[in-house]
Amino acid sequence: MENALELTNLGVSFGGIRAVKDVTLRVAKGERRAILGSNGAGKSSLFNLIAGEYEPTSGRVSMFGEDVTKKPIHLRSRMGLGRTYQTSALFPSLTIIDHIYLAVRGCYDGRMSFGRIFASEKHMQAAETIAQKVGLADMMHRTVADISHGEQRQLEVGLSLAGEPRLILLDEPAAGLSQGERGRLIELLKSLDDDLTLLIIEHDMDVAMEVADVITMMHDGAVIASGTPAEIASNEEIHALYLGAH
Ligand SMILES: Nc1ncnc2c1ncn2[C@@H]1O[C@H](COP(=O)(O)OP(=O)(O)OP(=O)(O)O)[C@@H](O)[C@H]1O
Ligand SMILES: [Mg+2]
Repeated sequence: MENALELTNLGVSFGGIRAVKDVTLRVAKGERRAILGSNGAGKSSLFNLIAGEYEPTSGRVSMFGEDVTKKPIHLRSRMGLGRTYQTSALFPSLTIIDHIYLAVRGCYDGRMSFGRIFASEKHMQAAETIAQKVGLADMMHRTVADISHGEQRQLEVGLSLAGEPRLILLDEPAAGLSQGERGRLIELLKSLDDDLTLLIIEHDMDVAMEVADVITMMHDGAVIASGTPAEIASNEEIHALYLGAH
């Protein structure tokens, strides 16, 4: 079966810092993959390489069987890549539905040949469908300033769905959430279409354990282990390094 993503000996350096070192991994279509690792392990840099925001110092990136190493960001998103960022990029005074509508518009601008009015209605429908998918339909006219942190994270997941992606990269979607909000986010992630491929960066094991089919552990820029949640949880070395008292 064709993979959603293949990274081959991928690396990036900044001055003397090798942020990502020789990473090789394959993610199958529809797979849910969690990337775990401590601060500075290279997780966000890896996402930036996949998305085309960083140019690799070495190695290759393929998406759905196509080498995209030299492709710019917008062409990768056109091929079905969506993402969220570690730092929130929401506008406090804009509503939920405005955010999603603008994201949908942004994804399709220049791609549609039919009239502007028809397109904007179609985009609004798509935006409402996304609001529903991420559990925000009943509050879609509220501004970002007026919703909880958990709801803001749900909105960010919604924005990543704007271009009908086949592969999405979520950078710590559960960061800073309460236990209850975390549970809701886990349910949301589990409810996404089965054929959507998900890569999720997580600091904590609980979200990864619940959502992921496979967990990849990074340390100091390199992949140090990949396995099922059960395999990772029972790996003594990883336990000592990351799981501490859990
Ligand atoms: N654009 C950049 N310029 C210089 N150094 C960078 C850049 N991006 C990342 N780095 C460095 O690369 C290393 C890995 O950073 P990265 O943000 O990828 O880690 P991370 O695993 O996402 O950490 P965290 O859990 O804190 O988010 C760090 O030493 C960081 O300072
Ligand atoms: Mg990071």
